[in-house]
Amino acid sequence: MEKLNKFKKIINKFYYEIFIENFKDKISFDFPQDYFRWDLIDYLIKKNNYLNYLEIGCDDDQLFSKVKIKNKIGVDPVSGGNVRKNSDDFFLENKDKFDLVFIDGLHIYEQVKKDIINSLKCLNENGIILVHDCMPDSLSKQAVPRYKMKWNGDVWKAIVDLRQREDLDIFTCEIDQGIGIITKKKNSSILKLNKPAKNLKFKDYYYNYKEYLRIIKLTDFKKLF
Ligand SMILES: C[S@@+](CC[C@H](N)C(=O)[O-])C[C@H]1O[C@@H](n2cnc3c(N)ncnc32)[C@H](O)[C@@H]1O
Repeated sequence: MEKLNKFKKIINKFYYEIFIENFKDKISFDFPQDYFRWDLIDYLIKKNNYLNYLEIGCDDDQLFSKVKIKNKIGVDPVSGGNVRKNSDDFFLENKDKFDLVFIDGLHIYEQVKKDIINSLKCLNENGIILVHDCMPDSLSKQAVPRYKMKWNGDVWKAIVDLRQREDLDIFTCEIDQGIGIITKKKNSSILKLNKPAKNLKFKDYYYNYKEYLRIIKLTDFKKLF
């Protein structure tokens, strides 16, 4: 995990608040306290008899070590997993196909979008892509460049961007910092935006996140998947 020194944190915070955005209100999410990303992944593996799992960004294997499946690949340039590369380099050479991909690498819109597009190319037909950290509750948790240790980044913009595509059906489950769920199916609720997703501000997200991300509760998720 990236280490931030105090000086860099202060500079980034002022830079963000002066030149990008300053918005104080916070969202109060209702994340369950007894159901996490590994539970969701275990549910999907068992329900669909999945065999092949890919995780982008593994850190200390908090999740990777818990995933029980026949074949698993974990990609991280620094620690954890079993492939020591960044995601771009991994996808350049990868020839494997996956049933389930968990994207949790660099939490910046452009990189997350690239990771999703690359994952779609190696996803089996009935496969699912999950994206972690889609629901920041405050501007500070989504600010890029980062100035907080607890950080979701602007992953949410990648979800909002791809919600405009006709060939992807996307939801976000309200658990564990928000988990995006992407399938290669006809979009059953196309999002219309009046500006590029990249240019959206936290304030736009604050007022529209339910529609932008197509938020569902865990109970709805289990009815749909
Ligand atoms: C939030 S942590 C992952 C946590 C883990 N997946 C879990 O569920 O607990 C993010 C990780 O992404 C890695 N990372 C950063 N940039 C990356 C990249 N371009 N490709 C792959 N991993 C990256 C970092 O080294 C860090 O270990």
